Amino acid sequence: GARVVVLVSGGGSNLAALLAAHDDPAYGARVVGVITDKPGAGALTLAQEAGVPSAVVAPADFADRDAWNRGVAEAIAVFRPDHVVLAGFMRILSPTVVDRFAGRIINTHPALLPSFPGAHGVRDALAHGVKVTGCTVHLVDAGVDTGVILAQATVPVEDADDEATLHERIKVAERALLVETVGRVAREGLSVDGRHARIGRAATSADR
Ligand code: GAR
Repeated sequence: GARVVVLVSGGGSNLAALLAAHDDPAYGARVVGVITDKPGAGALTLAQEAGVPSAVVAPADFADRDAWNRGVAEAIAVFRPDHVVLAGFMRILSPTVVDRFAGRIINTHPALLPSFPGAHGVRDALAHGVKVTGCTVHLVDAGVDTGVILAQATVPVEDADDEATLHERIKVAERALLVETVGRVAREGLSVDGRHARIGRAATSADR
């Protein structure tokens, strides 16, 4: 199966969903390493319980942002991954990381991009008064949440929602979408043509 490294900053519900899926060989992807920027992140316990090695790459342990990014790139490379999944990783990666693993970094975002990018996708959507929001699984490029979209799912906003209740509803859809999309990319591959991603082999003239 494809080797997947997961980067996390938070509780790790998306990581937990990937770990629940990867024991089935038919899934096609295996989490081979977990990396966090936060010493003590809940995700470390999840990794340990699943028998997956983990690494902490904390900014405080590096001289500056550049050094930290090089540390992240090295920590990822150790696991020789086919894909890198950002599952609630709350820091921006520089070209040092993004270019080294170009086209192989997948992020999940709790809004329907290109609306509401950034660190507060749920709060910003709620503040805007949207009636429908959702989640986006996309490739990471040099921008913030600007990469090619792989999959999206919609989630209704309810009148009584606050950021926490809405985020919880999004997370239910999000973990299913992330698990499904990572599995499909691992099993079928990915071809990208401009802004358009297609999971599966590249289109050939025989298809037209
Ligand atoms: C997820 O909803 C993810 O989309 C979001 O953080 C949450 C992490 O939850 N990421 C971002 O907002 C990135 N800007 P988890 O730790 O339970 O998987």
